[in-house]
Amino acid sequence: MVHINILAEVWSERFEEGLNPAIEQFNASIGFDITLIQEDLDGSLAHTKMLASSGIISSEEAKQLEDGLEQIREEFALGSFKPVLADEDIHFAVERRLIKLLGPVGKKLHTGRSRNDQVGCDLRLWLRRRIDELDKNILLMQRSLFSHADNHLYTLIPGYTHLQRAQPLSLAHHLIAYIEMFQRDRDRFKEVRNRVNISPLGAAALAGTSVPIDRRFTASELGFTKIYANSLDAVSDRDFAVEFASTSSLLMVHLSRLSEEIILWTSEEFGFVSLTDRCATGSSLMPQKKNPDVPELIRGKTGRVFGNLQALLTMIKGLPLAYNKDFQEDKEAIFDTVHTVNACVEAMTILFEEGVKFREDRLNAAVHSDFSNATDVADYLVAKGVPFREAYQMVGSIVKTCLKERVLLKDLTIDQWLEVSPLIDEDIYERLAPKHVVASRLSEGGTGFKRVSEQLTSWRNQLLSP
Ligand code: ARG
Repeated sequence: MVHINILAEVWSERFEEGLNPAIEQFNASIGFDITLIQEDLDGSLAHTKMLASSGIISSEEAKQLEDGLEQIREEFALGSFKPVLADEDIHFAVERRLIKLLGPVGKKLHTGRSRNDQVGCDLRLWLRRRIDELDKNILLMQRSLFSHADNHLYTLIPGYTHLQRAQPLSLAHHLIAYIEMFQRDRDRFKEVRNRVNISPLGAAALAGTSVPIDRRFTASELGFTKIYANSLDAVSDRDFAVEFASTSSLLMVHLSRLSEEIILWTSEEFGFVSLTDRCATGSSLMPQKKNPDVPELIRGKTGRVFGNLQALLTMIKGLPLAYNKDFQEDKEAIFDTVHTVNACVEAMTILFEEGVKFREDRLNAAVHSDFSNATDVADYLVAKGVPFREAYQMVGSIVKTCLKERVLLKDLTIDQWLEVSPLIDEDIYERLAPKHVVASRLSEGGTGFKRVSEQLTSWRNQLLSP
């Protein structure tokens, strides 16, 4: 950033000397809060309109200020408005440019306002937009998961607890679990949005102002649903930033767990998924390798989002009311969080759109090669009147015998079954088939095909309707 010390233009007469250049650099936020330029202009436009409608400035003055602000927007788009380090932050940069453009009228813009309520306003406007974009991106990711779920109602996948084979599942059921999680994330972001969408504007530095401003005018002009009732709270509150980072952290937890499963599934040991060339990478040394870099990076980036949450909490915890310069540190944490979660959501969407191929042969072989149907033998006996705990013990001993003889439950002869219990019939073989095992789990929310098919219908309506 170009270094020109022109601060004396804005600081009050109280100051005789400019800043030490290193301190100027240390103090400035323009290097990153330039990101807020559109919102800073939007906020200033609303403030200008309010000043005119409240009779604080004339409508001619307001017209000049509005034209000037729009001109700055244009100059920025064309690349001719380039704030410098000495501008300190985006708020000063815009005001200074406006004064250059308009002369004395430009100096009226900041009437009844402080950078303290201004920065809170800009950040909320910016975050509100980003939350709306993020919601759309998560929806697209849910759709990409849904299309796999829709194709794989009858594809089975081993279900695990403790990462040990437990009971087989419909693959659609497994994928819908993630759609559910991402829906909770979207719901949470909506709630956070409600608390982002409150106007701090008009709190001024901390105490309100003697200028007869109309806070509700600027709030409604900017689409805020309400105003902060307490001016001190208005400029001191960064709860919304913490809530956003916390909700983002939970979203990253879900993305990271899904990533971890994809990574496991693509390993030779599982072999449930293969990655297309468009979404996998090679090794610089080992020619045979195909690496799942995308889910690994998503899993890895989770840490920086947690870090941002921690940074925000720690930054706020010891601050007295009201504005403290520490708050300047909120921006990079929020910007980085927004950037990271969007990048991860987008990468995951692409991965499911064109990267992940479920290997039905391997999934099918897997569900036919284990004891994950053992619970069903117990349930079979329960249906014939055996108390569950007793049935459970009986099946435990059958599994033990099978393990010793290196056979599966389906390999036992009917005579061997009859030795276990005379209540067992030929129909036990059908009951043991993984398809039947899955189909039978018809309790609400269970993996039974009928239940999952209902879930698919419900998600189809929810996700695919415009
Ligand atoms: N650059 C500052 C920030 O990001 C803007 C508010 C500065 N207010 C002040 N009183 N120094 O927080």
